[in-house]
Amino acid sequence: MNRAPDDAHRHARALLDPVHYDYFAGGAGREVALDENERAFRRLALLPRVLRGAASRDTAVTLLGDRSRMPVLVAPTAFHRLAHPEGELATARAAAAAGTVLIASMAATTAIGEITAAARSVRPEAAVWFQLYLQPEPEVTGALVRRAEEAGCTALVVTVDSPVRGRHGRDERHGFHDLPPGLAAENMRDLPGTAPGGAAVRPIAMSSALSWEHVRRLRATTPLPVLLKGVLHPEDARRAVAEGVDGLVVSNHGGRQLDAAPATVEALPRIVEAVAGRLPVLLDGGVRTGCDVAVALALGATAVAVGRPVVWGLAADGERGVRDVLEWFRSDFDQALALCGGARPADLTADLVVRRGGVGS
Ligand code: FNR
Repeated sequence: MNRAPDDAHRHARALLDPVHYDYFAGGAGREVALDENERAFRRLALLPRVLRGAASRDTAVTLLGDRSRMPVLVAPTAFHRLAHPEGELATARAAAAAGTVLIASMAATTAIGEITAAARSVRPEAAVWFQLYLQPEPEVTGALVRRAEEAGCTALVVTVDSPVRGRHGRDERHGFHDLPPGLAAENMRDLPGTAPGGAAVRPIAMSSALSWEHVRRLRATTPLPVLLKGVLHPEDARRAVAEGVDGLVVSNHGGRQLDAAPATVEALPRIVEAVAGRLPVLLDGGVRTGCDVAVALALGATAVAVGRPVVWGLAADGERGVRDVLEWFRSDFDQALALCGGARPADLTADLVVRRGGVGS
C-alpha cells in the first residue's frame, strides 16, 4: 500500500521519541514560516485545461544532467539515524528505487560514500547530490568536497540561508542540543585541522562571514555543478546567475531559519522572473501533495524537494516507508498533471495558477 505523507506523519509521531519528533517537526521562532509554507499552497488553485488529447504522460525531468522519474527530489535533512536505525542508508535505497535524486545532508549520520554506495546498490545510475555548508576554513570545505566527489556525487547544493544556527524553540524547551551517544555527523569525522587526540568529529560551523567570494572559490576547486539553497531575494538570484552558479533552490529551510521569511511558493515567482530561464529553479518547503508539486512547477520551478515527508516515511517504516512516500508523490503528481490536461511537467504553465477567494484574480 502506498502511504500518503499524512499517514506516514501520524505513524512517525506515534513511534518517535517526542524529543526527536519535535526536532524533525519544529521550526524557528513562532513557527510562522513553517506554517505558512503549507498554508500558502492552500491559498492557490489550479485552472485545469480540458480536452487536450494528452493520451500518455511522462513525469520525468532532467536536472543538471541527472534524470529523475518525477519532479520531486529528496531535500537534505540531518540525522536520519534518529528516525530509524538504518538511517540514510534506507533513505538512499528508497530514493534510488523511486528513481529520484537524493540530496544528502552534510549533517548526515552516515558518511557520504556509504550513502552513494547504498543508492547504487539499488540502481547503478542513481543520482546523489551533496548538501554543503561552506566551512570557514577552506581546507575543511575542500576535504568535504573531495569526499563528495570521490563518493560519486553529481552536484553540490550549498546552503546559504544559515549564517547563524536557527533558534528552535522546541529543542530549547527539551534541552535537545546533541546527538545521543553512538550517533555522529559522520561526514565531519577525521577532517583536516582535527587535533591529534582531539574530538574526531568536527562540529559543523555556521558563519556569517561567508560571501560570494567563497562561492567563487568553491567553483574554482570543483568541476561539479553548484546550486545555492535558501535564496529568496530576486537580487540574490540575479547575482547567482551573474556569478555562474548552476541552479537555485528557493527555500526557507523548512521554516527553521528566518521566521519572518515568506512562504517559499510566494517567493518563487519573483525568483523565476529574475532568473528568466537561465538556471533551473527548485523549491522546497511545505510540499505535501501532487497538486502542490503542480502549482510550484506551473509557477516556474523545474522541480521541488520534500524534507519532512521523507523523514516521516523513514520513521514509520524505514526504506519501505520512504519508498511509499516517494511513490505516492509520483502517482499523486501524475494524477494532478492528468487533471490539468498535461502530458509532461513543462505543460504546467503560470496561467493555470489563480488565488483562492478572489473573483477574477
Ligand atoms: C532540514 N533542512 C536542512 N537543510 C540543509 O540544507 N541541511 C540540513 O542539514 C538540513 N537539515 C534539516 C533537518 C530537518 C529535521 C528538517 C525538517 C529540515 C531543510 C530541508 O533541506 C528543507 O529545506 C526543508 O525540510 C523543506 O521543507 P519541508 O519539506 O520539510 O516542509
